[in-house]
Order: sequence, then structure tokens, then C-alpha cells
Amino acid sequence: MMKMLMELMVLVGLIGLSHGAIQRPDYDDTPNPEFLNPSWMTSIPDDQLLSEVTMPGTHNTMALYGGVYAECQTWSLASQLRAGIRFLDIRVRHVKGNLTIHHGVSYQRAHFGHVLEGVVDFLQEYPNETVLMRLREEFSETYDIYGSVVDFIHRYAHWDMLWHSRLVPTMAEARGKLIILQEFSGPDLGMRYGSLDIADHWKVPTLLHVDEKWQSVYEHLEAAPTGNMAQIFLTYSSGAGLFAYPRAVAQRVNAQLYNYLRSKTDLNQRLGIVCMDFPAAPIIQMIIDFQLKKVIKSQSFNPVPTRASLKNAISSLRKKMITQ
Ligand SMILES: *[C@@H]1O[C@H](CO)[C@@H](O)[C@H](O)[C@H]1NC(C)=O
Ligand SMILES: *[C@@H]1O[C@H](CO)[C@@H](O)[C@H](O)[C@H]1NC(C)=O
Repeated sequence: MMKMLMELMVLVGLIGLSHGAIQRPDYDDTPNPEFLNPSWMTSIPDDQLLSEVTMPGTHNTMALYGGVYAECQTWSLASQLRAGIRFLDIRVRHVKGNLTIHHGVSYQRAHFGHVLEGVVDFLQEYPNETVLMRLREEFSETYDIYGSVVDFIHRYAHWDMLWHSRLVPTMAEARGKLIILQEFSGPDLGMRYGSLDIADHWKVPTLLHVDEKWQSVYEHLEAAPTGNMAQIFLTYSSGAGLFAYPRAVAQRVNAQLYNYLRSKTDLNQRLGIVCMDFPAAPIIQMIIDFQLKKVIKSQSFNPVPTRASLKNAISSLRKKMITQ
């Protein structure tokens, strides 16, 4: 009976989780990344649309405190950005104009100004990079955060640092900018979160549901290379439920994600944003390595003459014959 109970508890993830000390290639809940990759966007061509870029992100970026049910990350914002993360998921509680960082009931010992300062510091040091930020209200229901968000931007960042358009920027336009993916009403502060193609099946009631979770991740990643290239694809590998902590889910789904990425031989495909809990430096690197490398046109050689080039050749021959 005791043995059965133990097995059941392991199954639902209530025990068997060593707390805060695992560093694997796919999963890391130690305080710091194994290695950094702070300026990988430099090599992306200027004319490439941001929607064509494959990049790593974190789900509930600032959820570092509050116990196993609330915690989704262990690295600070500065460490995440320097490790290569370019998509942030920020949830703010709105109380009388103040925007504090929350994951559900858990206060994350920071306010929105700290997040903005972290992004500003990073972009000033690495101006070729861009940072995308999903922004929404959490643990308050004012449905009116626009004014406070603008206020915080003026106080802790610069208005010109934002990408002020609903349209998808090119890499050249995005460099040095914070792109807010706005999940709240009000005038345009950036792009609309709802304009992305999103797979976010975050409800994983027990660890018996991890396979279903992985299936949804897999299907969306498989669809990304052939999806609309002008639309940003966003896939969350994260999930949680009453009998499955974020850590327990990440330890399983990240491993599947890692094996999936490793089995792909063609790195020349768009996967979009892959958003994770407790990612490790090697899986971040793997995602970064998927980039659409544009064919350098001036060096390509086309052995079959096109109609236009034939026309040109004929007309220049004619001219020569006439002048002779
Ligand atoms: C906003 O909330 C944070 C965290 O509770 C606090 O430190 C800060 O002083 C507050 N700011 C204002 C203007 O009330
Ligand atoms: C940013 O890009 C420019 C132009 O490609 C390059 O010269 C510079 O070294 C890059 N800066 C960083 C920090 O990578």
C-alpha cells in the first residue's frame, strides 16, 4: 500500500523533484546559465522579417519565487537575456497606478520598472538585439493598464526604444528595440499579442497528461516552417496543474523538445518562438541555431536562362547587327 502510494506520488510529481539543483542540456533550475550567448542576432540579415526568426523565450519570465507551484524560472532577467532569451512573458498586477510583477497570487519582488530597466540595460549593451515582451494584467481586474504602462515606459525606459506599430518589423527595424506584444486594450503600444499564431496548452492536470502536452507542442512546431512567414509563430512548451508543477512538466517536456530539435537535420527552417520553463543553455543554443540562412543572391548561378535574360541577349545582338 505504501509502495503504491509512493509510486502514485512520484507519478503526479509531488515528490521526486530535487529542488533547485538540476543542470541538464534541456533543463536548468540552478541559479545561472552554463554559458551565455548575448549577441546572436547580429548575424541575422537586416532584411529578414522578425517573424522568420527562430528564437528562445521564457514563459512567466519573472516567476522566480513563491514555491514549486509558482516558480517557472531560476535565472534573473539579466541572465536570461544574456543566455540568449529574446521573448519575455510579463504579467503585471495593477494597483492604483502601480504595476507589480505577479504569477497568480505570488508577488515576484519586482515591479514593471525593474523589467524595463533590465531590458534597457541589455539593449544598450547589445544594440543589435531585439526583445519581444508579451504584456498582460494578472491578479487584478482593472482592464485598464494602458495609462500606467505608458507612465512606466516614460519613467524607466525611452518612448523611442519601442516599436510603435502593429506590423511585423524587419531585423533592421527591430534592432535595439523593445517590441511589446500587447495583451490589453488601449491604443497601439506595439504589436498585438493576438496577431501571433500561438499554441499555449498550459493546462497539464497531472503528469499523465504530459504526452498530450508534448503532442500540441510537436504539432505547432511541425506547422511553423510551412506556416505564414509574415506571422510570428509562438509555441509554449510550459504547462502546469494541481498535480503537476511547472518543474515536473518542464523536466519531461524539455527533454522531448531537446530530442526533437536534435533529430532535425535541416536547420534551415523557421520554428518561431519556442517559449519554455527552466530552459538550459544548450537547448537555447539549439533553438538559436535554427535560422533561415538566406541564399546570397549575387553568388547564386542560374544555368537556365530566363525569358528576360534571353530577351536582353536578342535585343543586344540586334543592336550590334544594326550598328555594324
Ligand atoms: C509599487 O510597488 C512596489 C512593490 O510593492 C513598491 O516597492 C513601490 O514603492 C510601489 N510604487 C509606488 C509608486 O507606489
Ligand atoms: C552590431 O552589428 C555591427 C554591424 O554588423 C557590428 O559591427 C557590431 O560588432 C555588432 N555589435 C555587437 C555587440 O555584436
